Amino acid sequence: MIKKIFLIGYMGSGKTSIGAKLAEILNCKFLDLDAFIEEREEMSVKMLFKLKGEIYFRKAETKYLQEIIDQNEPIIVSLGGGTPCYGNNMERVLSATDIKSVYLKATIPTLAERLFTEKEQRPLIAHLNSKELLIEFIGKHLFERSPFYSQSEVTILTDGKSIDEIVEEVLKAED
Ligand code: S3P
Repeated sequence: MIKKIFLIGYMGSGKTSIGAKLAEILNCKFLDLDAFIEEREEMSVKMLFKLKGEIYFRKAETKYLQEIIDQNEPIIVSLGGGTPCYGNNMERVLSATDIKSVYLKATIPTLAERLFTEKEQRPLIAHLNSKELLIEFIGKHLFERSPFYSQSEVTILTDGKSIDEIVEEVLKAED
């Protein structure tokens, strides 16, 4: 029986807003993995990268992901953009029989548009000072990451759709 929905996708793909809305509708708990890491590590993702380094962050991410997978309650979870792409994280998500994995797929121009104004809190892209550089970075990064994201059980194309429309599609796939 599906008890958990895990939202997967690149930075800026809407995982957190869609997740919060879904949890509201389904009347269950919502957990954003980045926020969970920040709470448990008592430090922002930005500072974790800066002070402890990306490898430390990835290890912490894997550890907390497992804790969430092991929780035995209905829950909507938005993963970090990199979560499915490190260690055997994606395998762990896919092998849990009570989890439905949903990839929120957006195109490069849409992601770049969204991320350009909110890149400061995201250590991997904070240094990219023009939209052109951001587009180039996202293109290469998505090429590497898509094979992981695409293993999700459900893929939803999100471009041009409202939060409500996307939520509706996730709910349909959940039936
Ligand atoms: C990352 C995405 C971020 C956060 C960290 C690394 C990534 O999460 O986990 O900055 O590797 O794509 P969001 O996708 O929620 O921005």
